[in-house]
Amino acid sequence: MKIIVTGGAGFIGANFLNGLVPRCTDHVFVNVDALTYAANPASLEAIATRPNYSFARVDIRDRAAVDRLFARIEPDLVVHFAAESHVDRSIHSPQAFVETNVMGTFNLLEAFRALPDVDRRRFHHVSTDEVYGTLGADGAFVETTPYDPSSPYSASKAASDHLVRAYHRTYGLPVTISNCSNNYGPYQFPEKLIPLMILNALERKPLPVYGRGDNVRDWLYVTDHCDAIWRVIRHGRIGETYNIGGRSERRNLDVVHAVCDVVAECTGVSASTLRDLVTFVPDRPGHDHRYAIDPAKIERECGFSPAETFETGLRKTVRFYLDHEAWVRAVRTGAYRAWIDSHYAGRV
Ligand code: NAD
Ligand code: DAU
Repeated sequence: MKIIVTGGAGFIGANFLNGLVPRCTDHVFVNVDALTYAANPASLEAIATRPNYSFARVDIRDRAAVDRLFARIEPDLVVHFAAESHVDRSIHSPQAFVETNVMGTFNLLEAFRALPDVDRRRFHHVSTDEVYGTLGADGAFVETTPYDPSSPYSASKAASDHLVRAYHRTYGLPVTISNCSNNYGPYQFPEKLIPLMILNALERKPLPVYGRGDNVRDWLYVTDHCDAIWRVIRHGRIGETYNIGGRSERRNLDVVHAVCDVVAECTGVSASTLRDLVTFVPDRPGHDHRYAIDPAKIERECGFSPAETFETGLRKTVRFYLDHEAWVRAVRTGAYRAWIDSHYAGRV
């Protein structure tokens, strides 16, 4: 099987490829990524020279480039991760979110639709629970929860989900969609809550918590998300949406305290010294209060259950950032951008 993975140099895409490429040697994987600030080819070092892996630097906003790539590869499966993914950036500069998440997804769907025998192929769209908006104190998102996005990021992902679903209903394209809760784990760019708090704690910098820290997120270790996606691709029903989550709700402040405790345990610094770094800062505009996923459908239909608890996953995550000093240093100093610019200059 020929598989295009978009956004494979980002956090979740890299974990997806690192897990599957060595295991599925009868499949050929093409990583299609524009290498934005969020991408890091160093996250793919372990598979970069594998014979069933290749990389194509393509911006999914470029319709002609996407068309050419699809016509050349004729993928049996497309797994679409590529996106602008950070909510705070979308509040500051929303345009790239509309261009990549909405128009980029449209370009991929059009290129996919033009393939011969499209019925025997598959397009899997990776999306987020943020499309459902916020929850009150009770309940959880199910697949039929109405869309009610709050940020430019979640609105752009909602639009992309609608396009994918519309292409199934209108043109009969064989698609599946998954909407997942907050991920954490190796190779996450340190703008997101958990890696930011780990790295700041290691450097004794302030730990900025928005509002009162009582917003709730439902955390899932990244390799569990990747496993869930692969299960939806193999066992999910065409045209269906699957919510992915690990039944692991936590208040932000409790997450930050847990990070402090694990960093303290791993480094010998006292936990209270690290907890004292917590600094309450002004809230994110439009900040959704609570997310929680009801994963009953994917559990029932695809046999999904997470391998990691929040506690085991967090320990592995802290160890990753401690043990990969060069990766962290390069990301922090921007040195990896210089490598991308020299290595990929002029390459398409
Ligand atoms: P990320 O920001 O770490 O990586 C995104 C990748 O997409 C990067 O490699 C980037 O270079 C690439 N990309 C961005 N714009 C592109 C463009 N125009 N053309 C080609 N490539 C482009 O994101 P992530 O956290 O790995 O998220 C991946 C997907 O999963 C996204 O669709 C996101 O909405 C979804 N998701 C993320 C989470 C989470 O907690 N991180 C949870 C649920 C769903
Ligand atoms: O729910 C899935 C989504 O999770 C994904 O679709 C997004 O791509 C991903 O970025 C993530 O979005 P969040 O906004 O929930 O993640 P973030 O790590 O930015 O923030 C998590 C929570 O922590 C949120 O309530 C805001 C808060 N926060 C975040 C940062 C960066 C802080 O309190 N301080 C911070 O410095």
